[in-house]
Amino acid sequence: MRYCGVGTAVTAAGADSSVPSGIVRAVGMTGVGSHVPSRVLTNHDLERIVATTNEWIVSRTGMRERRIAAEHEATSDLAVVAGRRALEAAGVKPADLDMIVVATITPDYPFPNTACLVQRQLGADRAFCMGLEAACSGFLYGMETARCYIAAGAAQTALVIGAEKMSAVLDWTDRSTCVLFGDGAGAAVLRPVPAGRRGIISSVFGSDGSLSDLLMIPAGGSRRPATAETVAAREHCLRMRGREVFRYAVTHMAEAGLAALHKAGLSISDIRWVIPHQANLRIIAAIGERLHCPASRFIVNVEKYGNTSAASIGLALDEAVRDGRIREGDLVLMVAFGAGFTWGATVMEWTGRA
Ligand code: UT7
Repeated sequence: MRYCGVGTAVTAAGADSSVPSGIVRAVGMTGVGSHVPSRVLTNHDLERIVATTNEWIVSRTGMRERRIAAEHEATSDLAVVAGRRALEAAGVKPADLDMIVVATITPDYPFPNTACLVQRQLGADRAFCMGLEAACSGFLYGMETARCYIAAGAAQTALVIGAEKMSAVLDWTDRSTCVLFGDGAGAAVLRPVPAGRRGIISSVFGSDGSLSDLLMIPAGGSRRPATAETVAAREHCLRMRGREVFRYAVTHMAEAGLAALHKAGLSISDIRWVIPHQANLRIIAAIGERLHCPASRFIVNVEKYGNTSAASIGLALDEAVRDGRIREGDLVLMVAFGAGFTWGATVMEWTGRA
């Protein structure tokens, strides 16, 4: 068994093995992948489950359908497929991975962390593995965590995955939440980028724990362990005060986007694509207004997948790379917001395998 860490991992095969540990270097994404389960749940299907209508869901959220994992499929199963696709796209073997980060609020188990379960399925036996809980901001938080390790020379090649089985934590009797979420996974391989390329250019992050009650799962953790009463009251399911969350989501994603641009010394006109967390089309439109960015430069797939939490940005990014919208050298701004609250924004030059 080999170990990775400061001073041990930077000579792994591939780019820039001459950079000694402790030296800050540019890091980029060299491949992305995603996966959604095959079962489609449409708004019309939901009309038969709760008192809702297709018209309400489309007009208030922009969502038309979402994917729902099979009973036997867990978050790690979705993550592994997305991860394999990202590795293939990057031309990286599982054995080359130093680090796996899985961001999720729907882990397979309270422990071990889902990244270890992904490692097992991938056969990435050199990697150290960590779970990361930042809700819908998880993909960007995971990217920044991996970027810091790689920039510092503590790892060379990382796999970052945002994956969720949100359907497992929804209250299917609560129409105000169960129509909003879906299952899926998005993944990216991060490595040092060749000289002259920028990769991840800037990131900003913020959190506000004083508002944690607005979006949470109230029971099942150490504060309120599972009892027959908590289960009967569906307190192991997601609860959200949607209208308030909406307001903070717009404000924080727009402000973080502007701050990340400022930090990068760029303006919105330099950005080819904006990838927002896919929570609601109206939130995305409001962010566009605040950033002064037309809808045509936003990557949006909320109509197909709903809100997939930590998976959402990676899923949208992968679709846009694979269908050719995002091309080498494009500057991409990603903005996220989620429970906690947590939020963040990242400006990145898409490098791919360059
Ligand atoms: O990913 C993490 C971040 N999450 C978000 O950013 C989500 C943020 N919030 C939202 O996207 C929106 O607030 C929702 C989509 C959740 C709700 O939209 P809204 O326009 O804020 O609606 P509302 O909560 O103010 O509810 C309006 C009405 C209510 O009825 P009354 O009280 O006005 O009679 C709700 O009971 O709509 C009713 N309603 C529904 N009606 C039909 C709530 N859910 C439904 C439903 N179908 N599914």
